Amino acid sequence: MLSAADNELLVRTNQNTPLGEYFRHFWQPVALSEEIPLPDCAPIRVTVMGEELLLFRNSAGKVGLIDRYCGHRGADLFFGRNEECGIRCIYHGWKYDTDGKCIEMPNVPPGAAYHDTIQIKAYPTQEFADMVWAYMGPAESMPALVPQLEVGLVPSENRYVTKRLIECNWAHSMEGALDTAHFSFLHMPAPSQMNDDNPNVAADVKRLRWLRNDPTPRFTFVDHEVGFVIGGARHADEDEHYWRLTQYLLPNHSITPSSMPNEIYYGYSWTPITDEACWMYVYAWHPERAITAEERTRFDQGGYGQFAALGPGYLPLRNRSNNYLLSREEQRTESFTGIRGIAEQDQMAQESQGYILDRTKEHLTPTDVGIVRFRKLILDEVKALSAGNTPKAAHLGQAYRTRGGGALTADQLQLEEVMIERFGTKTGVVN
Ligand code: FES
Ligand SMILES: [Fe+2]
Repeated sequence: MLSAADNELLVRTNQNTPLGEYFRHFWQPVALSEEIPLPDCAPIRVTVMGEELLLFRNSAGKVGLIDRYCGHRGADLFFGRNEECGIRCIYHGWKYDTDGKCIEMPNVPPGAAYHDTIQIKAYPTQEFADMVWAYMGPAESMPALVPQLEVGLVPSENRYVTKRLIECNWAHSMEGALDTAHFSFLHMPAPSQMNDDNPNVAADVKRLRWLRNDPTPRFTFVDHEVGFVIGGARHADEDEHYWRLTQYLLPNHSITPSSMPNEIYYGYSWTPITDEACWMYVYAWHPERAITAEERTRFDQGGYGQFAALGPGYLPLRNRSNNYLLSREEQRTESFTGIRGIAEQDQMAQESQGYILDRTKEHLTPTDVGIVRFRKLILDEVKALSAGNTPKAAHLGQAYRTRGGGALTADQLQLEEVMIERFGTKTGVVN
């Protein structure tokens, strides 16, 4: 459990909150590039950590992230005209560039008091890995690089990037990714489905059997410069261990533990919208080959576990408002939850904890040790920032080039040996 004060620290990211200030020292994904695909295309509203902003791509292709409301009398710039290298407010025609500078004021005589002096809020942006990233912290602390996640370093045909709306506090979802013990329950097919003849599970049946048969994985950790690796070891067949190796990357990224050697890698980043909702950016990449058309189609449809079937606005079709299309019949006969899709099962569990979880009421167990470590690290970092120490990890962009995944090893290996065997380095950093 956490104290009420620490729980508050962990969930609040608006301006002038300690975690909000910490997040703002890092580049954060704020949209997919595909949401503003072309010069002078329609601008979009984005709310990031409680700040209402407008994102647009100007005539030259440059991206601007500015205050959503006009400096004159507050009209919503979402309704504005994106034209000739700026957003023009529809109320009285004031026009803003990507830096938030008001460059035209047709209702103000030249030489009048305000001319050339109006500046609305604007944040620097970069595009990386098909996402638009923004830096919303103090200018003097701005890191040169966005986190160099491997997904952004492979050729574009080798990756697939999307996002989905999570209707609860960001930390529920982050903790859900670090809590790899839940797989033995939440994602299990019904026992009657666990046979090699069932085409839905045949390919994974061995892994599912190991997961089901060992619901108390042993967790160990390797710390590194920008987070840590969580290693969860389960008994496999014979004298082997099935390891699930998850990356936690400060402050809000994770690389998943599912990929066996030569499989596609997956990762997540969470950007709070408000304290009660966040965007989860979900990405897949293969270091050596393109993602095939067939794989893209399956991802689009919510296949392969990491992706949910999405409706308009990147809202999952199975969501909080419809109980994730829970079928009690399927819960009896086909799966532990009666909800289709691993991503949707995760989302259900996380959102079912409420909009903001009260961690003072928890009863943690030894398999929650990854979550405990995450909370301690991020709260220590936040408290250090409050004491005047800016986060080092924000300036170590290259250290984010890490992998996570699964491994089958001899049972006497320690986590560092497993990491070297699986990824070539004990931290999973790709050289
Ligand atoms: S409110 Fe925008 S120009 Fe008047
Ligand atoms: Fe899960």
